[in-house]
Amino acid sequence: MNTMTNSAQAPRRLTILGATGSVGCSTLEVVLHNRERFEVVALVGNTNISLLAEQAVACNAQLAVTADETRLGELKNLLAGTGIEVAAGDAAVIDAAQRPADMVVAAIVGAAGLKPTLAAAAQGTTIALANKECLVCAGDVFLRALQASGAKLLPVDSEHSAVYQVLDQNQPDQIDKIILTASGGPFRSYEHAQLASITPDQALKHPNWSMGPKITVDSSTLMNKGLELIEAFYLFPVSANQLDAVIHPQSIVHSMVAYKDGSVLAQMGEPDMKTPIAYALGWPNRIPAPVKRLDLAALGQLTFEAIDRTKFPAVALCLGCLERGGSATTVMNAANEVAVAEFLSNNVAYLGITQLVDATLNAAEKDGMIAELRSLDDVSHADLYGREKATELARSLQS
Ligand SMILES: NC(=O)c1ccc[n+]([C@@H]2O[C@H](COP(=O)([O-])OP(=O)(O)OC[C@H]3O[C@@H](n4cnc5c(N)ncnc54)[C@H](OP(=O)(O)O)[C@@H]3O)[C@@H](O)[C@H]2O)c1
Repeated sequence: MNTMTNSAQAPRRLTILGATGSVGCSTLEVVLHNRERFEVVALVGNTNISLLAEQAVACNAQLAVTADETRLGELKNLLAGTGIEVAAGDAAVIDAAQRPADMVVAAIVGAAGLKPTLAAAAQGTTIALANKECLVCAGDVFLRALQASGAKLLPVDSEHSAVYQVLDQNQPDQIDKIILTASGGPFRSYEHAQLASITPDQALKHPNWSMGPKITVDSSTLMNKGLELIEAFYLFPVSANQLDAVIHPQSIVHSMVAYKDGSVLAQMGEPDMKTPIAYALGWPNRIPAPVKRLDLAALGQLTFEAIDRTKFPAVALCLGCLERGGSATTVMNAANEVAVAEFLSNNVAYLGITQLVDATLNAAEKDGMIAELRSLDDVSHADLYGREKATELARSLQS
């Protein structure tokens, strides 16, 4: 049952998974900007113990949890005398996700976010979803869990928040297309040959958004757009061929819905995650966010261009996975996580990221690993296969 409260008197009880990350920190900023509207139940982080402790004090959280069991003593010391409960380890993360709350912000990066988010969803808690893997790796399994408990799902990603804000849920048959915008990343104007020598430092500099390292690299390869198209497929009532993406370098139009009458509705704003986060945290009401106001006259112009799918094969790769169905997106996501980590460790070249993902998918097809996902075990199995196969292929590329 969905327990979300929304009266002006009752503060919304909030848990933040991945509190110490980029989305987590922005969420805390919105919460502290609207102090009377929220009561923080639990904050979950992993390695950044000092920030976790600082955040827990700042928002007077009931509980602070690190996923890293070896750091419990450190967290305890930092929070001694504050009255804030502390815990550590994977089981403690799940417990935190299951504590009674009105909303859980799912902002742990990667597949590690899947189990705690599913645990919160199973309780019927509203999920404000930033973590992509819940839908990309486990779309059907995750949606079934939400359906079973009646938990509501609110998108946090700026593109999906934009679509959510302009989508007429009552007339899905009148939707022509959902069009996600992509900044095009830092290498949009590079020639294909120039992409070969991109270094991790270059890939970690996003022109418009400030984000965690994994998603920043994904934005540069446009894999992030591909992952978002997969998420959109699960979030909205459209088929894969109604999904499209367009380059919009200014990142002001966050996405659009085109209707069959020719209208195209877009949501705009400064490229700042605090706006979509505030939309999710306050839903169904709007609440203020500490962001710069959009000044269109100062901007002068907004431009759009088609994605060069030869230079950036990740978008087609992701749409192809939707066509393959079943575990294809799970394997693809796992291979991409490995490929990005190998690139950041200088073990795989920049162009090798999508090549490695493609090679892993082809191997999965050959090995009979593209199959229907019926349970979390199926998801874990496909995820593990993708990781092991991509690691094996990465090693063979190096030798
Ligand atoms: N950043 C954005 O603007 C943005 C936009 C849309 C969607 N997203 C999605 O939101 C998610 C978070 O992105 P991000 O950019 O905020 O990532 P990030 O800055 O790397 O932060 C990741 C968070 O997850 C925590 N974490 C990592 N491994 C964990 C584990 N095993 N157990 C528990 N916590 C763990 C980290 O803790 P420590 O830092 O303490 O180690 C940190 O709090 C990703 O799925 C991303 O694709 C991000």
